Amino acid sequence: MSRHPLRTWTLAGALVGALGLSCTPEEPFPNLDELELLQSLHTPTHAPPKDPTNKYGDNPAAAALGLKLFKDPGLSSCGNISCQSCHDGEGRTVDTPKATGCGDQLTGRNPPSVINSGYSTWFMWDGRADRLWNQALLPLLSPVEMASSPAILRARLDAAYKEDYRALFGKAPLDETDDNQLLANFGKVIAAYERTLNRTEAPFDQDVIRFLAAVDAGKAEDDPAYLGLKTFVRKGQCSACHKGPMLSDDQFHNIGVKDLSDNHRGVAAAATPMLDWPFNSAGPYSDAPSGTESARLQRLSNDLKEKAAELEGAYKTPTLRNIELTAPYMHTGELKTLEDVIELYNKGGEPAGNYAGHVSETIKKLDLSDEEKKALVKLLKSMTGAAK
Ligand code: HEC
Ligand code: HEC
Repeated sequence: MSRHPLRTWTLAGALVGALGLSCTPEEPFPNLDELELLQSLHTPTHAPPKDPTNKYGDNPAAAALGLKLFKDPGLSSCGNISCQSCHDGEGRTVDTPKATGCGDQLTGRNPPSVINSGYSTWFMWDGRADRLWNQALLPLLSPVEMASSPAILRARLDAAYKEDYRALFGKAPLDETDDNQLLANFGKVIAAYERTLNRTEAPFDQDVIRFLAAVDAGKAEDDPAYLGLKTFVRKGQCSACHKGPMLSDDQFHNIGVKDLSDNHRGVAAAATPMLDWPFNSAGPYSDAPSGTESARLQRLSNDLKEKAAELEGAYKTPTLRNIELTAPYMHTGELKTLEDVIELYNKGGEPAGNYAGHVSETIKKLDLSDEEKKALVKLLKSMTGAAK
């Protein structure tokens, strides 16, 4: 007799959970959708996916030459700036908001890490490169970074790496008279090196696996990762964008980061030049058979027309792996700590008027408790893996 009320309650609760109905605070975490999402967060045990646009991408000789070029300041017109100048240290970035290039000029944005860059498909905060190899041409030629030119590149390759280059490309650098081909070859060996810079496993992965086992055993709430994961997935909605094994959807969103620079429109300004760029993945310097790489670019082109408002002031969702090593944060590098990042999300981004466009509809005031904020910071810190 006395059991009936309890049974009815349990059944109703189970139905609410199973049907994914209202998200009342009482609903047990995780519900079925949330469970599926949690299961997607496992570390990739595989190497970065093959890049069909770069036939040297997994070539060890190309990676070895790429490493030498990555560290060579002789490729810059000023003679003292290499890729490594701004992508150094454990986090493979700098610890200041901006980095310094040729002639002490400051970059417009914060350098992201190059660790795990082989797992992305868009590059730069605003997506103005669509492959790792074509990204490398931008800092080489940028007047504030390496300020180089095809002529400087050709002379340096010929002086210092002639035989390495010839072994890969079948001719000496001086005999490569097509500037664009020379640049593409440079990018492809750099990318082959960057594709080896992987650091994917972290304590976070073990926590998720253990938590999923606790869910199975009906003991989710007893697990030490419970509050952090619940806040990340449910109240904070972080996993709406930071999802999958790399904790990124590889898409562009406006989350309300203060930016009043001339260059603050993000992907809305960068996409059209990229779509017209001869070095993009559908262009003549791509190794993919013609036509096979155009679908992704076509989608972005459609989004530019159909979702223009959403792309205004939108930036790429960065991976959160190794996030503790890459402060300061955001494309502006304005936020010094992970605590500052949580405060920005907690207030639903900066007020409109501080950046181009409007915040994504997922970004709302969160009203996180101190305990929830601390649990989120702890979770973010657990996403940093051991050095290999
Ligand atoms: C003077 C500093 C500087 C130098 C030199 C430099 N970078 Fe960067 N790097 C940056 C900045 C700043 C960004 C972000 C730019 C943006 O998004 O507008 C960046 C972005 C990147 C990215 C994109 C990462 C991502 O997740 O989107 C990669 C990859 C990269 N750089 C590799 C290189 C390579 C390869 C070289 C040498 C050919 C190089 N960098 C030289 C500062 C630098
Ligand atoms: C609507 C998609 C979206 C949601 C939701 C979201 N993020 Fe982000 N996140 C982004 C984007 C986009 C950026 C880069 C924004 C920029 O620089 O303008 C970012 C940047 C970050 C950074 C800084 C990364 C770096 O390398 O500088 C951290 C840390 C972060 N998010 C954590 C979180 C946490 C924690 C939550 C939940 C409270 C969350 N994010 C929710 C899209 C999202």
